[in-house]
Amino acid sequence: MAGSLSGSVALVTGSGRGLGRTIAERLIAMGADVAIHDISQEAPAQYGEDANLDAVATRLAGSGPRTTAVTGDISQEAAVAAMVAKVEADLGPISILINVAGGDIGAHGTKPSPNGALDISLEDALAVIQRNFIGTMLMCRAVAPGMAERQKGSIVNFGSLNGHQGVSPEVVYGCSKAAIVHYTRCLALEMRPAGVRVNVVSPGPTKTARFLATRQTDPKMMLDGPSLDRYANPSEIAGVVGFLASPQSSFVSGQVIRIDGGIGLYAA
Ligand SMILES: NC(=O)c1ccc[n+]([C@@H]2O[C@H](COP(=O)([O-])OP(=O)(O)OC[C@H]3O[C@@H](n4cnc5c(N)ncnc54)[C@H](O)[C@@H]3O)[C@@H](O)[C@H]2O)c1
Repeated sequence: MAGSLSGSVALVTGSGRGLGRTIAERLIAMGADVAIHDISQEAPAQYGEDANLDAVATRLAGSGPRTTAVTGDISQEAAVAAMVAKVEADLGPISILINVAGGDIGAHGTKPSPNGALDISLEDALAVIQRNFIGTMLMCRAVAPGMAERQKGSIVNFGSLNGHQGVSPEVVYGCSKAAIVHYTRCLALEMRPAGVRVNVVSPGPTKTARFLATRQTDPKMMLDGPSLDRYANPSEIAGVVGFLASPQSSFVSGQVIRIDGGIGLYAA
């Protein structure tokens, strides 16, 4: 698929590290100019992946496509507007938006504790919804109208396996990811006449630096091999996102692709 995104401008939220960064690398390899985004310059260093956001953008620029670095909290409307304006000033109109930023992070910057259906604090619940569902919605609201005007665009939002099945803990996180899945369907419907595609991917457990640093992993699930009974590698998520961003998926919209090795085999 090298070159299939030449002439495209992509904004990948949360691409200072983790899945977002691997996706940015994939889109660059496919020829897109890519805006690297995170909540702060320091976020890429949190789990030891890179020194700061500018270092990521410079490293990924390589030989061909252009990159720019932009910071901002996706859950704040004014910050989102400023981010989008900077990206479009630096690289041109955005035709690909990948909403990766998010996570099960509460009001004080750590995982909510307690984190169940009845005992999560209201403060943490609101923070998780704001960071995931509201953040994704604000990004779509800031970028989709321009795409519709130009009749060109592909948006990929991030759900999670947790948004498709009953879970405990991480209940509100699962609910906010389920909301992203349904918001994607609704936005896809509204965008049909303009030819803008909106899809969602829902990864299962994936070996990002944050994932590995914040939980006890199962050694058997860490092994790479033919079995699908394992954690995903970030490149396996990025491959599907690259497909959804590209013209190869030109008639795919409003869909959810679960990238979980088939662990969640159920209808809907
Ligand atoms: N890794 C997994 O197992 C897994 C599984 C399912 C879904 N996901 C989802 O995939 C996405 C990426 O996960 P990851 O494992 O790479 O984690 P990560 O923490 O490394 O990446 C998340 C990124 O989003 C940024 N971010 C968080 N809140 C933000 C905000 N309010 N404004 C701006 N940026 C913000 C973080 O700074 C970080 O760069 C998340 O949405 C996560 O919920 C991950």
